[in-house]
Amino acid sequence: MEDLGPVAWPPEPITTERLVLREPEPRDRATFVELLASPEVHTYLGGPRSRDELERDLPVVPGQWPGSFVVELDGSMIGNILLRRATVHRRPAAVGKADLGYLFLPRAWGFGYATEACAAALGWLAGVLPGEPVVLTTQSANVGSMRLAAKLGFTEVERFEAWGAEQWLGMRSPAAPAS
Ligand SMILES: CC(C)(COP(=O)(O)OP(=O)(O)OC[C@H]1O[C@@H](n2cnc3c(N)ncnc32)[C@H](O)[C@@H]1OP(=O)(O)O)[C@@H](O)C(=O)NCCC(=O)NCCS
Repeated sequence: MEDLGPVAWPPEPITTERLVLREPEPRDRATFVELLASPEVHTYLGGPRSRDELERDLPVVPGQWPGSFVVELDGSMIGNILLRRATVHRRPAAVGKADLGYLFLPRAWGFGYATEACAAALGWLAGVLPGEPVVLTTQSANVGSMRLAAKLGFTEVERFEAWGAEQWLGMRSPAAPAS
């Protein structure tokens, strides 16, 4: 995966009904460690990284690249949305496309925050790269992620086996509804 390419970055913070999407800052580092070390968050993502290793190796500002949004609720980070370019992908249909990923802290699940934030990030992408389709890969067993993908307007391209599990590749055409 590479970053999105020539987009103006960072944008002005994006405000939704309940959330703010902005570029990462040094104060988010502890939450990045929590997010990346969480076994619950990584149930369908190949397992977490060790907290010690993350404390040692993460840069002062983790996730600082065009298309990486920190999602903030009431002034604190609750998640990270990743919009990248899938320059390399196991499935040809996804190669070269913009790719959506999302990680939220378990305590922020079940409130619709991921839907709200991803819809806003997709809206930003449609503004800076009009007409771009977006792909998304998730384990089909990841029920919450599958529901989120459907709510965001992604439809199935194909299923495939990788990393020891069935994966779902979805695509969202530019005209798809965002929630
Ligand atoms: C995938 C993930 C982001 C989904 O989070 P989520 O909170 O379930 O997703 P949503 O924002 O769509 O919230 C949906 C839930 O909020 C509920 N909800 C409560 N208040 C709501 C509101 N005001 N608006 C919308 N939904 C609301 C919905 O009913 C729904 O609950 P349900 O799933 O029991 O039906 C989260 O599980 C996660 O971070 N997982 C780990 C990372 C991961 O697996 N990523 C996928 C690979 S990229």
